[in-house]
Amino acid sequence: MRVCVIGTGYVGLVTGACLAHIGHDVICVDNNEEKVKLMKSGQSPIFEPGLSEIMQSAIQTEKIHFTSDLAAGVAHGEILFIAVGTPPLPTGESDTRYVEAVARGIGANLNNGYKVIVNKSTVPIGSGDWVRMIVLDGIAERQKSLVAAGGVSEEKLPEFVAEFDVVSNPEFLREGSAVYDTFNPDRIVLGGNSQRAVALMQQLYAPIVERKYAADPSLPPVPILATDLSSAEMIKYAANAFLATKISFINEVANICDRVGADVTQVAKGIGLDSRIGNKFLQAGIGWGGSCFPKDVSALIHTADDYGYEAELLKAAVNVNERQRLIALEKLQQVLKILKGKTVGLLGLTFKPDTDDMRDAPALNLIEQLNRLGAKVKAYDPIVSQTGMRHGLSGVLVETDAERLADGCDALVLVTEWKQFSTLDYLKMAKLMAHPVIIDGRNFLDPEAMVRAGFQYVGVGR
Ligand code: UDX
Ligand code: UDX
Repeated sequence: MRVCVIGTGYVGLVTGACLAHIGHDVICVDNNEEKVKLMKSGQSPIFEPGLSEIMQSAIQTEKIHFTSDLAAGVAHGEILFIAVGTPPLPTGESDTRYVEAVARGIGANLNNGYKVIVNKSTVPIGSGDWVRMIVLDGIAERQKSLVAAGGVSEEKLPEFVAEFDVVSNPEFLREGSAVYDTFNPDRIVLGGNSQRAVALMQQLYAPIVERKYAADPSLPPVPILATDLSSAEMIKYAANAFLATKISFINEVANICDRVGADVTQVAKGIGLDSRIGNKFLQAGIGWGGSCFPKDVSALIHTADDYGYEAELLKAAVNVNERQRLIALEKLQQVLKILKGKTVGLLGLTFKPDTDDMRDAPALNLIEQLNRLGAKVKAYDPIVSQTGMRHGLSGVLVETDAERLADGCDALVLVTEWKQFSTLDYLKMAKLMAHPVIIDGRNFLDPEAMVRAGFQYVGVGR
């Protein structure tokens, strides 16, 4: 099928590349010319495991093309994905101006046959109908300009009325495993009232539904849930809000464990074995961040508020998380007492491993607060060091390896559980430090091994 994906961020590019990989003809549109140039040359502007490989093979088989020309993308696609960002505004609402610009642009360029417009971006509940309205506005504006330019008479205009439907198809991709998640989804949600559009979407995803690209092809087909537009939009918010709340819950339990002397990792195992609870997303630590949880939970609270409902549980989940993101600071103060003049080394900067994304990363709060208290902050992160990426980073000296990081530090904080952090030479690192203290912000390391290496080990709720 012919597909156009507009917006090649973490979600759009992964979606486009994966759809090309399963045989569709994909055009990815982005208004950032630099990015388009980079992608045309076969390079991914983001780090996502497996993405470069499938992008390059799709470029070779000419299944994927990149352009900044929205008109060309709209003309090509029978299915048009809107995947531009919806960052949070200071009020907590989503900034939907990019979605609006794209919807208007689609409308202005719709002219050849039936199209399905897919909201992949996480948009406030009710946006499906709003996108439809904006597309219609775009169509009307184009008609007006055609008449004004004298190209078409008023009577002929109905010929230009394009046929389209809007579908909400939320993504549930985790950064760091987005390609894997695309080929191995737990479910596919399709919201909309047009059976024609939903049928085309089912056809689009058929190879994935049939597990043709799955890690385990013997699994039963991926469940498809067809809903109305608002329910699909709500599913995305509710899923992220639930997961974020689950993490805040275990973080709260961890804080109680710290006080009573229990070990949250054992507690998580013990409750996770209850199939009603499940063992995933029960990893206590320094809180949730990233481009989705913080913004989606805030947006849901905001939506509830718009309808006069106070989302108390969600607000509590956010409050617990805000406090949790500074738990490492509290622990550093307990051990080092005064932080002024001390040097703290951060192991990891990104909001989770296997991504280069720093959006709303707990490391950023930590750096800011440590600076405020007069500590010197150093950091080592595999991807940040490898790519030379320094975007948005200030008040921190980025080292090129873990041993240089440890050298002279009064304490280390493990912020991101990069796999390679389990095999560092901690014995050597402890010797290089002024005080061999390690705060394990992800309960990732083996406490006994760290003590053997000469560290004073402090976990979260353990
Ligand atoms: C996506 C979104 O779909 C968001 O709603 C969801 O919650 C998380 O995932 P993400 O992929 O992280 O966002 O967005 P981002 O990495 O910011 O990329 C957006 C892309 O769209 C950028 O490449 C940007 O250049 C492009 N863009 C933006 C356009 O092409 N046109 C625009 O008008 C605006
Ligand atoms: C999330 C959702 O999982 C995905 O379905 C959605 O579509 C986009 O948002 P992402 O933000 O990429 O994905 O990563 P995720 O693995 O969910 O982690 C989010 C944050 O929670 C990270 O900061 C992570 O460190 C933290 N986390 C996760 C925990 O603190 N404990 C856990 O047990 C799991």
